[in-house]
Parts: sequence; structure tokens; C-alpha cells
Amino acid sequence: MLVSAKEMLEKARAGHYAVGQFNINNLEWTKAILLAAQENNSPVILGVSEGAGKYMTGYKTVVGMVNGMLEELNITVPVALHLDHGGYEGCMKCIEAGFSSIMYDGSHSPIEENVANTKELVKICAEKGMSLEAEVGSIGGEEDGVVGMGECADPQECKRIADLGVTMLAAGIGNIHGKYPANWKGLSFETLEAIKSLTGDMPLVLHGGTGIPEDMIKKAIDLGVAKINVNTECQLSFAAATREYIEAGKDQQGKGYDPRKLLAPGTEAIKATVVEKMELFGSINKA
Ligand code: 13P
Repeated sequence: MLVSAKEMLEKARAGHYAVGQFNINNLEWTKAILLAAQENNSPVILGVSEGAGKYMTGYKTVVGMVNGMLEELNITVPVALHLDHGGYEGCMKCIEAGFSSIMYDGSHSPIEENVANTKELVKICAEKGMSLEAEVGSIGGEEDGVVGMGECADPQECKRIADLGVTMLAAGIGNIHGKYPANWKGLSFETLEAIKSLTGDMPLVLHGGTGIPEDMIKKAIDLGVAKINVNTECQLSFAAATREYIEAGKDQQGKGYDPRKLLAPGTEAIKATVVEKMELFGSINKA
């Protein structure tokens, strides 16, 4: 059964580790991530962007697939199904479809509008036993066509949103989605510390987990990050393994063109990346 992310993140915050959110795109992604979590006794959050939700034909399909896999694969570790960077409409759709967690990304709206919508969703999520992530300070890079500049959040605005009763808070600290450019200045730990000192025990979320050096990840966890989002890195692993299979001509040998064979190396590669991240984040055996 899907669970809210609240308990797993509070445990992570208290235990000084982080739970990974890995974004899903299809059956192979979902299966790879769920098996990696189960085999390593780790809690996990499946992230679904609005674009990926659309790609999978809608949130109801996603809920059906994930719930089916939890049962058929005998998954017993805590799993949350979470909307990533949702608009208000998207949040309402996921609540209705049976997600166990949502992110309302009001970071592109004026703070008053972000506050008003977050407040409304806090109420609904509390009634439904769902977790809610809010965002302050746009996270850079591109995701589903939305481009942010990687700004640092205003700690006072973070406190304002945290005080509304959200479960976890994503705050821009110079992180960006996708690959980091060569001239990236790194995470702003100064900003993270200021946010932590004002938001207390609130689990903080680090987006753009792909390509952040290990020492920075560890320091961020020390400073209150309890959830780390990874998307691009799984895509890169999948693509590299699939390319290798095709370039070796394996799709042309025997029934190598069978999608169950063709997609197998990529699926295994996603799994390996997820396990690597779980080790780094410290969530193994924390289910
Ligand atoms: P990356 O694609 O950079 O790993 O970021 C993922 C993310 O933050 C999803 O919200």
C-alpha cells in the first residue's frame, strides 16, 4: 500500500540520512526503482512530473500500475507516489487519482499566491493523510519546459511557507535540474543553514540530485536535507546501456529485438544507479 512521505522523511531527518525521490517514466523505470528499494530494504519516493504523467496517459494509469506492482512484486518497504512540481490543477488531479503525496510548486508565482494555494492544499492533504511538498525560490535548469535560474530562496519566505504546515520544503540553494554546467558555483550552504535555522525540524528537499558531488550531498544531509530528487541520472544510465546493446548489434541477434530483451540492460542500469544513490543518501536498511 502506498504511504505518505511524512513518516519516512521525519525518520530520515532524525536519523541524518535522506530518502531518494526517483522519477518514473514508464513500467521499466517503476519496476527498477521498486525492486532496488525492496532488495536494499530502503524507503523510496516515486516522482511523477506532470509531463511524465501525461506521457503515461494520465495519473490514474500511474496509480493503477504502481499499486499493481506493489502487490505483484510483494513490495513491503515504504513507498510514496509523489507528484513532482505540480501546478494547483495537477495537484487536485493527483489527489483524486490516488497519489499518496504531492508537490505544489508555487515558486513561479508571487509569494502571496504561493501562500494561498499552499494553505488550501495543506488542508486537503491533512484530511486525506497525504504529504505535501512546497517550493520557495525557483530551482534552475529545465523541467518540462519550465526554466528556472537556480536562485537562492529567501529564508524568511521559507519560514512563512513552512509555518503553513507543509510536510517538506524544497528551497532553491543554487541547485539546478539536469547536468550542472562546468562553471556551476556549487550549493549555497549559507542559504541552507539560514533556512534550517528558521524552519526547525522541517525536512528539506534537494532537487537536481544528478551530478552534485558526494561531499556536497553529505553536507546537505547534515544541514537538514531529508529528501533528494534524482531524475536525469537514471535517464543517462538507461540511455547509455541501451546504446551499448544496440551498438553491439544485440538487437539483431536471435530475438534481441524483443522489447523485453532490448530494454533489460537499461532497466538494470537504472537499478544500479538507484542503489548507488541509496548508498550515498544512507537510506539502505532504513525501511
Ligand atoms: P535531476 O534531473 O537533476 O536529477 O533533478 C531531479 C529533480 O529535482 C526532480 O524534481
